[in-house]
Amino acid sequence: MTDDLPRATLNPFRIPSGPLGRLAGWVMGRDDSPHREVLDLLAPKVEARSCEIGFGPGQLLQLLLARDADAQVCGVDPSPVMVAQARRRLQRLGAAERADLRLGVAGALPFPDRHADHVVAVNTAAMWPDLQAALADARRVLRPGGTVLIAWHSAHSPRRIQRTLAQPETWWDETTAALRQVFGKVERHELTYTTACTATAP
Ligand SMILES: C[S@@+](CC[C@H](N)C(=O)[O-])C[C@H]1O[C@@H](n2cnc3c(N)ncnc32)[C@H](O)[C@@H]1O
Repeated sequence: MTDDLPRATLNPFRIPSGPLGRLAGWVMGRDDSPHREVLDLLAPKVEARSCEIGFGPGQLLQLLLARDADAQVCGVDPSPVMVAQARRRLQRLGAAERADLRLGVAGALPFPDRHADHVVAVNTAAMWPDLQAALADARRVLRPGGTVLIAWHSAHSPRRIQRTLAQPETWWDETTAALRQVFGKVERHELTYTTACTATAP
């Protein structure tokens, strides 16, 4: 599996590696405001298993596990640095045994069919080489009635850095179309820090 992972790039936030990647993870890990609003929107079921793609340093995973003592999480990230940081975060929370975090990429989730109640991705989907394939794989992993949530930095965020990182409307058009093709109905949500699309697995 690790031989198939994408290589780190010069941007340490893309696939964090080495000392700069560790620093990028530390920077990302300091702010969980986007993840708090994403969690509110996701509104996970009690005892849900949530799968996060590209979890980075693990802020959303931490919130998911802290919110419900019976929740479980699983997920993939291609960065060994991020997998290590996220695992440490969940260990500090005392919740490591409720987490199955693996090295991996969107589109090749190493989890069985109908494994999760929710699949979520925050500030990562624009980095995936094949969004359509990634969404089809997310649907495979979702139980019927489970939800997918794709969030990315909002163009209307109060934070300048997030506005700078916002995707053009054409990307949202493509993302919405890809979601619709796999899941059917799609809803778009303008949150404070992120724009998000949600859909339900038939
Ligand atoms: C900007 S960080 C966001 C991390 C985290 N979701 C957050 O909100 O703080 C992007 C993350 O996506 C991961 N990533 C990059 N390419 C990916 C891919 N093809 N599949 C899954 N994750 C990927 C990176 O390793 C990195 O952890």
